[in-house]
Amino acid sequence: MSATSGAPMIEVRDLTKNYGSFTALQGLTFQVPKGQVVGFLGPNGAGKSTTMKILTGYAGQTSGSAAVAGIDVQADPVAARQNIGYLTESNPLYEEMMVKEYLDFIAEIRKIPTDRKSVRIKEVVERCGLGNMIGKDIGHLSKGYRQRVGLAQAILHDPDLLILDEPTSGLDPNQIVEIRNLIREIGEEKTVIMSTHILSEVQNTASRVLIINEGKLVADDSPENLTHEEGGTLYVVVAPKNGTPLEHNMVERMLTGLPEVSQVNAHEITDEGALGFKVRYSGEDPRRSVFESVVKENMVLLEMRRHHVSLEDTFRKLTSND
Ligand SMILES: Nc1ncnc2c1ncn2[C@@H]1O[C@H](COP(=O)(O)OP(=O)(O)OP(=O)(O)O)[C@@H](O)[C@H]1O
Ligand SMILES: [Mg+2]
Repeated sequence: MSATSGAPMIEVRDLTKNYGSFTALQGLTFQVPKGQVVGFLGPNGAGKSTTMKILTGYAGQTSGSAAVAGIDVQADPVAARQNIGYLTESNPLYEEMMVKEYLDFIAEIRKIPTDRKSVRIKEVVERCGLGNMIGKDIGHLSKGYRQRVGLAQAILHDPDLLILDEPTSGLDPNQIVEIRNLIREIGEEKTVIMSTHILSEVQNTASRVLIINEGKLVADDSPENLTHEEGGTLYVVVAPKNGTPLEHNMVERMLTGLPEVSQVNAHEITDEGALGFKVRYSGEDPRRSVFESVVKENMVLLEMRRHHVSLEDTFRKLTSND
């Protein structure tokens, strides 16, 4: 079986996985079109790695189907894997091999033609910033460099799809930025699905976020929409213009009357004669409307701070089980 053009890069349909009496995945369905970079989120034990193992043919499902580039993974794992580069959660590497030796070995497994092998290894080594490491034993590399070796083996056969299970876990902030940039570069040409617990990472690299909880899909949207629809809170402080004291009720009515605003509460007052409000909104950002109505009512806007709902807030809301 060969890759079917026109098919989505990933098609997961009603996927269920039981480990004994425990259900790890319960009817998971999603598609990923070619070229998309998808963040795959969920709390510990949600089923991310299980999904990735099924997608790569390293675990079988209990029911449902998984296809990559139009190839059913269970029916033809070898053909499906030709389209996939996989960085597993534990990134097991041959500690006693040198980086160069290891990539040679992977090239053999991946059946990269001998005449192309050394050129391709060179390209990948450069791309993954492994130039100074090729003569070192993998066992002597730092975590970040081991992760680069893991990425190098994943992209060596130039697959169309990268499945990356927590590619930045355990890295220091500098290495996280470097690996993230590398993934972003790869994502310009390839389809990528990556699991992570670093939510800001998804906002920086992915155009779509899938969130799973207890083996079920609970969100599928762009990072912007996942935060935008939830709205947020504004902290607004207004002051009188000409010494005429402000009337609390009047200001509260004015704020409540704005179309974007869903709730107004009194907020701590910091300056003499000023009034503070906590303004809840959903959807559109109301800062312009607040500014305009404050000016129109002849008041001074002393302060306006926005607490936007973060992806972290949305994640917690969707995946906390209480
Ligand atoms: N081989 C196995 N045998 C029994 N249970 C398993 C096995 N593999 C995974 N599980 C269980 O399935 C559930 C999903 O595990 P999975 O590793 O897919 O979660 P995850 O979303 O990748 O979590 P994490 O964020 O911690 O990596 C967990 O409850 C886990 O304990
Ligand atoms: Mg996992």
